[in-house]
Amino acid sequence: MSSLRFRLPLLFLAGVVVAAAITAVLAARLFQEYARDDTLANLKRQAAGLAALYTEQARATAQEGRRPPKFAARRLERATATRLYYAGLEIFPGEESGLRALDVDELDRELLESGQIQTFEFEPPGSDRTFLAVAHPLEIGGQVFGALVVAKPRGELRERGVVLVQRLGLAFLGGLAVAASLVWYLSRRLTAPVVALTRATERVAEGRYDVELPPVGKRDEIGRLTERFGQMTARLAEAEELERNFLMSVSHELRTPLTAIRGHVQALREELAEDPTVREASLAVIAFESDRLARLVGDLLDLAKLDAHRFTLTEQEVELRRLLDQAYTARSEEARRRGIDYEWRFDASPVVHTDGDRVLQIVSNLLDNAFGWTPDGGRIALSLVSENGTVSVTVSDSGPGVPESERERIFRPFWSSNYSTGTGLGLAIARELAQALGGELALESVPGNGSRFELRLPAR
Ligand SMILES: Nc1ncnc2c1ncn2[C@@H]1O[C@H](COP(=O)(O)OP(=O)(O)O)[C@@H](O)[C@H]1O
Ligand SMILES: [Mg+2]
Repeated sequence: MSSLRFRLPLLFLAGVVVAAAITAVLAARLFQEYARDDTLANLKRQAAGLAALYTEQARATAQEGRRPPKFAARRLERATATRLYYAGLEIFPGEESGLRALDVDELDRELLESGQIQTFEFEPPGSDRTFLAVAHPLEIGGQVFGALVVAKPRGELRERGVVLVQRLGLAFLGGLAVAASLVWYLSRRLTAPVVALTRATERVAEGRYDVELPPVGKRDEIGRLTERFGQMTARLAEAEELERNFLMSVSHELRTPLTAIRGHVQALREELAEDPTVREASLAVIAFESDRLARLVGDLLDLAKLDAHRFTLTEQEVELRRLLDQAYTARSEEARRRGIDYEWRFDASPVVHTDGDRVLQIVSNLLDNAFGWTPDGGRIALSLVSENGTVSVTVSDSGPGVPESERERIFRPFWSSNYSTGTGLGLAIARELAQALGGELALESVPGNGSRFELRLPAR
């Protein structure tokens, strides 16, 4: 019952019921007012007619002495479904005319004497019902001698009201049934994708990413939610895959130098190599592999700190040109050996307030990649430009470039297309560092036509 599928229609139906109830109460009230006005208008018309009839007869009998006229009151009552009363002022007591007698005090005497019609409610003696009544003055020769009262029990109005409310209720029940089926249908249509999505979410929460999502039909909120959820799941699956790959490559990476070191240490211990040159070579391998281990562990540590946003920048005035020179020169020997056309172009010599070591780390990373991916005899260029308050350092190469589909991915941690030479951490670290320095790292690459990485820093 806590499901949206039930709550939604119930809420809607509750709204319909409340609205209908308010409408019914208002309609009943309006109807009762209308019915009362209508009844009074009818009573007035009847009273006027009957009063005229009565006065006429009274005038005729008045000639023969002061006696009330013969008035077929009971038959008139039956014909009009009302009760007829006579309220006499002084002349004509009224009883003999067949009319019921009514105490004049029930009326407004002043109004009556001035010959005006009046409406009022009263309870006839010996009855527990209230009557709605109209009193029409009776007069002869300009003198009011009494009033003819036409009355109807007020309860009849209520009975008509009850009938109306019953019919309204019936119509309402019919309407409610139609609304309920419509709402049920609509809510099923609306909630079906939500329910499917919920099931998919539960599966993902259990760590299973091979979920089937409801087809995205409309571009409404649920459609967008479904689409985004699909993308999210794909990313999660990819991240998990990357992490698994990374763990495997890290253990492999750690084990390879360790195995080499162990082997050489054992050989040295057992003094198998008496020859000093062989011993020297062994020590060189140990030193080299230790460096590699240190680098790997350093990278991992860097990334962990960057991830946790816990690293410190030491800002100083940095002569960017000198720094790039240093990075350039460190690899010129390798370029010469491999026949790589290695050039530099520094169009400015800006002094930037930044963390020089970090900038060097980024540029070294880019150059390492360039040298790693560029074939012998290729071309690598390092350039520096300063304009509009931004300095940009560019590393371009004539390697294979990066395909469109991997352009964002290569900046993610653990993404590498060659885990035997790298850890996939280089660009991730470089980008995080660039952002920490207030700049950015971007890639422009035409597949088959090399890559161009650009580091932009604010020239503060
Ligand atoms: N200059 C480049 N040319 C072509 N591909 C590159 C270049 N630099 C980086 N890449 C791609 O980006 C991936 C990630 O690079 P990086 O984060 O430095 O990790 P790693 O060098 O350890 O593989 C590389 O594996 C490679 O596929
Ligand atoms: Mg790299």
